[in-house]
Amino acid sequence: MKLILLGPPGAGKGTQAQFLCEAFAIPHISTGNMLREAVQNETPLGKEVKAVMDSGALVSDDIIIALVKERISAPDCANGFLFDGFPRTIPQAEALLNAGVEINSVVEIQVDEDEIVKRISGRRQHPGSGRIYHVTFSPPKIEGVDDVTGEALIQREDDREETVRERLRVYQAETHPLVSFYKALADSNEHAQVQYVAVDGVGDVEAVRDVIIKKLRS
Ligand code: AP5
Repeated sequence: MKLILLGPPGAGKGTQAQFLCEAFAIPHISTGNMLREAVQNETPLGKEVKAVMDSGALVSDDIIIALVKERISAPDCANGFLFDGFPRTIPQAEALLNAGVEINSVVEIQVDEDEIVKRISGRRQHPGSGRIYHVTFSPPKIEGVDDVTGEALIQREDDREETVRERLRVYQAETHPLVSFYKALADSNEHAQVQYVAVDGVGDVEAVRDVIIKKLRS
């Protein structure tokens, strides 16, 4: 199973990825989490991308493509993987095609802008694992603390309202064109293995999960 989760910031890609990776026993490849880890560890890559990420802009295609190619060559990706936040531009999607990576399903999670701003302002994350919470919609058992490790949760640097608006603008300009790109691919004879699935991302986290899993298994 090689899966892409597509959708605007805050649509619930990371949240649903946690369920889907468990259901299909595949690793979760979140380019956002990989980059945040590099920033946190102050690696050369982290130092290079920090300002770009904090502004809500996209990291360059070259950096991202190299990062993903290396990640998917790891042994745990032999039976598939889930991409969350990648590809995010047409050149990234083309690089995947040119590398011969055959995607089975593209799942687009649809959520409108006002709901997104509400969600992102309440998001909290466990930096070590990437586990995601929301202060109202999916709170941790103890406020401010990760359920599994007991470590403190953080609020992401790029989750301030003006940065969220910029990320949404960038999504429309750079990433939304991938909806047409993958729909066309799914309709083509050459890539008949690609299934395109669009789901309404508004509703209980578990209800959204069930709809996605049902569509992927049908
Ligand atoms: P990245 O980390 O990929 O962020 P994003 O795509 O903007 O998406 P988010 O992580 O904000 O949202 P999500 O859809 O995962 O939502 P979540 O599940 O957390 O990228 C960050 C930055 O890294 C980019 O801006 C860019 O700079 C760089 N980058 C990354 N990949 C790149 C690439 N390929 N190319 C170039 N640059 C790249 O949910 C949000 C909140 O809502 C949570 O609090 C959650 O609990 C809550 N929630 C989820 N589902 C529901 C629901 N059904 N009902 C109510 N609340 C819900």
